[in-house]
Amino acid sequence: MNGYRAQLLRFDAHGQALYDSDGLLVTEQGSDGVQRVVDAGPYRTVAARHRDVPVTHWMDRLIAPGFIDMHVHYPQTDIIGSPADGLLPWLTHYTFPAETRFCDAGYAAEVAHVFFTELMRNGVTTALTFATAHPASVDAFFHEAQKRGLRMMSGKVLQDRNSPDGLRDETEQSLIDSETLIRRWHGQGRLGYAITPRFAPTSSEAQLRGAGELAARYPQTWIHSHVAENRDEVRWVAELYPQARSYLSVYEHFGLLRTRAVYAHCIHLDDTDRALMHASGAAAAVSPTSNLFLGSGFFNFRGADAAGMLHGLASDVGGGTSFSPFRTMLAAYFVGREGQSKPGLSLAPSRLWWLHTGGAARALGLEGVIGTLATGSEADFVVLNPDAIPLLSRKARRAENLEELLFALIVLGDDRAVERVVTA
Ligand code: GUN
Ligand code: ZN
Repeated sequence: MNGYRAQLLRFDAHGQALYDSDGLLVTEQGSDGVQRVVDAGPYRTVAARHRDVPVTHWMDRLIAPGFIDMHVHYPQTDIIGSPADGLLPWLTHYTFPAETRFCDAGYAAEVAHVFFTELMRNGVTTALTFATAHPASVDAFFHEAQKRGLRMMSGKVLQDRNSPDGLRDETEQSLIDSETLIRRWHGQGRLGYAITPRFAPTSSEAQLRGAGELAARYPQTWIHSHVAENRDEVRWVAELYPQARSYLSVYEHFGLLRTRAVYAHCIHLDDTDRALMHASGAAAAVSPTSNLFLGSGFFNFRGADAAGMLHGLASDVGGGTSFSPFRTMLAAYFVGREGQSKPGLSLAPSRLWWLHTGGAARALGLEGVIGTLATGSEADFVVLNPDAIPLLSRKARRAENLEELLFALIVLGDDRAVERVVTA
């Protein structure tokens, strides 16, 4: 067993923040080699229950659950910050050419290494991640995740039309490759497979149907795609599927809405779509820095709440502009302010934090496993040091309650404040 003493942030089952100004987190390694939380709370009470446990004391630091990125593209690490008029030209000019290079396993391994280093520097311990259409890109991702002992999900991108040579796959082979990769990687330690049709415009009906069949045959896998991000994209889907009620209903038709189905963006949904998301158990990966960067629009937090639609936060790098959960939470705050029917929403700092930790875990079907530091859950956590940034240090010391402390970190924090990442 190990004890860690510092300020301590956890979440309860309702998403309420639990805070101890002098806390103790006690972990123990299970027979599977994974460290789990066995006790947590105020130092005095918890220490009295575990007198023999060695304690590491991090003065003036904050222990918090590792961040969870619900949607990110590791092959887009090097195209972060590439200017374009909007989603579709950005895909054509930067994204697709960059992704064609991942047929090369050595190159994929190099970028995967850089990607995981960036994630961990920023305190992200779990990410649902796009690879590329090349199976080698998936192997490179999982090998790196396995080396680092991280809980990670990814999958081969399915895109058999409207895609350039070198990236476009072949329908039948793409489904065979996906199943091979599921058997190779899904459930290996902390790794999980995501069936990953890129988005409706780049898959044939046969490929979407096949993806839905795979998803039914392997119900514990994830489904990972994009929906209703950009108005030109929505129009394109309406042309390709004139009979569909909405963009989202295309995925419904092919059996691609269920628990552990995660759709990035969900900007241009209507109330019927949101009800469908709720009823199916599918989740939205809200990607505010990407949506602001590409001018896609504003996620409707109020509408999502009203419909009971699962959602959490995501970087969407390279459409997103930062790996930092602090930047993503701040962008979500701005989107809440500006993007709703008036008056604007004030998303509470602890709510933003929940959406990037325990709430994201729930949306991913990993409730109780990661994201909260609840007893029995896996001990992935960050150790934050507000004093690593001069202005944040001044501001954090003036915080009079947890909300003020978390908001100081959200507004002024970055990777410098992430002093240490401890993975289960
Ligand atoms: N829609 C289809 N592909 C992509 C992608 O790579 N990034 C984003 N943001 N949207 C997409
Ligand atoms: Zn994306």
